[in-house]
Amino acid sequence: MTKKNIPMISVAPLALTTAVLSTVGVSFAQAQTSSGDAEAGERAFRQCASCHSTEPDQNRAGPHLAEIIGRQAGTVEGFRYSTAMQNSGIVWTAETLPEYLLDPSGTMPGTSMTMGLRRDSELADLLAYLATLSSESGDGAAR
Ligand code: HEC
Repeated sequence: MTKKNIPMISVAPLALTTAVLSTVGVSFAQAQTSSGDAEAGERAFRQCASCHSTEPDQNRAGPHLAEIIGRQAGTVEGFRYSTAMQNSGIVWTAETLPEYLLDPSGTMPGTSMTMGLRRDSELADLLAYLATLSSESGDGAAR
């Protein structure tokens, strides 16, 4: 009886993030406000930063993550990837990143990245943050 009163709003935050992030450069700012929080993601990124710079010219124990969204896996020049990564054929997007980040060696046996994201609750925020690294040539709203 009361069924009709349920508003037809069916925004699935994660699906929205996915959709927005996959067209990154167009409207990443919306992704941040509607679901993932890039600022919280930046804090979560501290667990990655010892190995990953966000500056294009800096590789640490891991390759830099500038422009990571939309990037073909294993292609940073001068970084020695595992063969698993080089041969993965993956393009990093909001769809392919979560699996790898939550369980690197489980989803890519042989990868030299041994630890991933500690809590999957941080995933949406982290993705929003990573999207900001990939949009610097855009409108700059992320910074
Ligand atoms: C202990 C060091 C270390 C930490 C911590 C770490 N990574 Fe990595 N990461 C690596 C290494 C090494 C590679 C290269 C893996 C390979 O070649 O198999 C890598 C690869 C990657 C790649 C693929 C890059 C490319 O160019 O294809 C992504 C994306 C990535 N890491 C994201 C993250 C994120 C996000 C975090 C934090 C949640 C994180 N990593 C934490 C060492 C690390």
